[in-house]
Amino acid sequence: MRGGNENVSSQLDVAIVLAAGEGTRMKSQTPKVLHPIAGKTIIAHVLDQVKELKAKEVRVVVGHARELVEPEVKSVAPAANTVFQSERNGTGHAVQLALADLKATGTVLILAGDTPLLRSETLAEFIKAHADSNNLVSVLTSQVPDPSGYGRIVRDETGSIVAIVEERDASEEIQLIDEINTGVYLFDIAALRESVAKLKTDNSQGELYLTDVIADLKANTGKAAAILSYDYTETLGINDRSQLAECAAIMRDRINDQHMKAGVTIIDPTTTWIDSTVKIESDVTIHPSCALFGTTTIATQAIIGPRTTLNNVIVGKGASVIESNCTDSEIGSQSKVGPYTFLRAGTKLAANSKAGAYVEIKNSTVGEGSKVPHLSYVGDATIGSGTNIGAATVFVNYDGVEKHRTEIGNEVRIGSDTMLVAPVIVGDGAYTAAGSIITENVPAGAIGVARAKQRNILGWVLRKRSGTKSADAAAKAGATEEQGS
Ligand code: UD1
Ligand code: MG
Repeated sequence: MRGGNENVSSQLDVAIVLAAGEGTRMKSQTPKVLHPIAGKTIIAHVLDQVKELKAKEVRVVVGHARELVEPEVKSVAPAANTVFQSERNGTGHAVQLALADLKATGTVLILAGDTPLLRSETLAEFIKAHADSNNLVSVLTSQVPDPSGYGRIVRDETGSIVAIVEERDASEEIQLIDEINTGVYLFDIAALRESVAKLKTDNSQGELYLTDVIADLKANTGKAAAILSYDYTETLGINDRSQLAECAAIMRDRINDQHMKAGVTIIDPTTTWIDSTVKIESDVTIHPSCALFGTTTIATQAIIGPRTTLNNVIVGKGASVIESNCTDSEIGSQSKVGPYTFLRAGTKLAANSKAGAYVEIKNSTVGEGSKVPHLSYVGDATIGSGTNIGAATVFVNYDGVEKHRTEIGNEVRIGSDTMLVAPVIVGDGAYTAAGSIITENVPAGAIGVARAKQRNILGWVLRKRSGTKSADAAAKAGATEEQGS
């Protein structure tokens, strides 16, 4: 198939997407077309590509779990109309319903809601090829390594299509054919309307097969063509979980290739999963085993991974995020996150800041150049600039009933193992002593000391733990039982 994709819109009057099936082979509570791939549902991938073709009208046939599928259709393609198929009597039946009150004439594109890899460019070429012919139907076919499950394309000795035979209805000989029906067709609407009305259920599934229209139009008009697509991977349909994984992997490779072409280094594309919605600037490096989801954006020179998950995260220029899990957060330019850092919703790290090993932060702002380097929990806090939070500090934000905020000023030094019991304020330039439990505000420039004064009970180990290795070591160092007694 060759051809341009100019003026496609003028050649396409209607697009019909079939999405009423149960998807029984998925064995899922979720309707098949709502399973996600690369951050979008299967049907959203299909509708987004169809949108590009600018058909005058788009109809989506819904049925099984209509109450879930319809809202998704409306949110992805608000201009599309849905048609309800209450009983699933096959693809032919679905098309009968979609045509029922359709006024338009001209050309209709029909495709299944379960082929998310089809690209609009391929569809545009298909439309062009059909428009250049004089046919009443064209079916898009592909040659696949494993044709099982698909309808087979039967051609005559001249090479033109005679019929599409479903696998369940196919002889052994026909099952050997590796050219399959992709489920993508272009029809003249009037010819389709006439032929689809004649469909019968005389097949193994007792359904009305849309595929039988092709044999009918071929036999009665001779104006039917099968057009082979270049890239069979685009036409793969999802009917079970293995095909879901197969399509997801192809989509992953496609997305990764696009980023690499745009100047992103992806060290191991086979373990890097990036949603189609993620934006990455050039000269970002992504190490193995990363997952980048949702509205995540990554600015140039950032380093991500290994083993990092980012979900709706904004990563600034030159920042690094290593072995970490971050959601709904912002990481400022040149900031360092990880390893083993958990950034939860509402975390904002300003430029040049740090959230280090075993640190969890949520709903908090960390000011420019401030550091939370080790083993801390920061919840519901505002931290100024140039401040250091000592190791193992905990922002005690929850009193068992409500959450409270903590405010830490600029250039503050929070001593290691401080408990900041919210609500509490630590002023600019203040310190807290290590191990303090801070329940009162600490004014600017003060040190908050909130711990018992230390006392040493001399000789205690020799008196209370005599005969132990500790007592022996203490004795060797000159300690005696009598000390302090
Ligand atoms: C269909 C084709 C097969 C083709 C394959 C490509 C028929 C009879 N077979 O088989 O030749 O190789 O697609 O992927 O058309 N649907 C409805 N209403 C129904 C039945 C199905 O809307 O009553 C929808 C489904 O939701 C799905 C699409 O039509 O999106 C195709 O149905 P599916 O059951 O997946 O057909 P396949 O067995 O894949
Ligand atoms: Mg299918």
